[in-house]
Amino acid sequence: MRDLFGGGDIEALGDGAAVLRGFALREAKDILAAVVEVSAAAPFRHMTTPGGYRMSVAMTNCGRAGWVTDRRGYRYACDDPETGRAWPPMPPSFRDLAMRAAAAGGFDGFEPDSCLINRYEPGTRLSLHQDRDERDYAAPIVSVSLGLPAVFLFGGLQRSDRPRRVPLESGDVAVWGGPARLAFHGIMPLAEGHDPLTGRSRINLTFRRAL
Ligand code: SIN
Ligand code: FE2
Repeated sequence: MRDLFGGGDIEALGDGAAVLRGFALREAKDILAAVVEVSAAAPFRHMTTPGGYRMSVAMTNCGRAGWVTDRRGYRYACDDPETGRAWPPMPPSFRDLAMRAAAAGGFDGFEPDSCLINRYEPGTRLSLHQDRDERDYAAPIVSVSLGLPAVFLFGGLQRSDRPRRVPLESGDVAVWGGPARLAFHGIMPLAEGHDPLTGRSRINLTFRRAL
């Protein structure tokens, strides 16, 4: 049974990784309203990979550092390359949610300085990758799913390790760190659907300690 008040089930994905079912359900609407505000100042855009491909996931950021990619590579930048201005500040409610989720996943004292916001539409996927552009790997990754469901691929430390397929629903929060910090992960192509809060999209917030 899904707990509407965020004290729900914890599903282990292996050592150092878990999905907190429904953890962000109660605050979903407020988070999405804040995402609309962030994207008014720093619009969603399709970035280019170092290899020259346009990413199908639309992205923006808030917080001190934002994850960006272009022909020069993957990195964190304190200014939005599209606007030349600092990324919008991370709302205190985001930071608070990320800290609580990290603690529930076994990582106390998480202080995120970066929130990457991903927007998926049906057909959009994110291929298997590691989050490895952060300065150190001591802090976990906290990843909040909102809107349309998705299948999260969660693998091991080698690209060749066969990933598990983890269905994620709106309000679920994945946390990985410690021995799982560099686990390969990705998102299968999103299925068609309609969500009462986001319509025909999935919004994912990924909190990191980048700098
Ligand atoms: C990511 O790996 O940056 C996002 C994963 C997700 O959308 O759940
Ligand atoms: Fe990632």
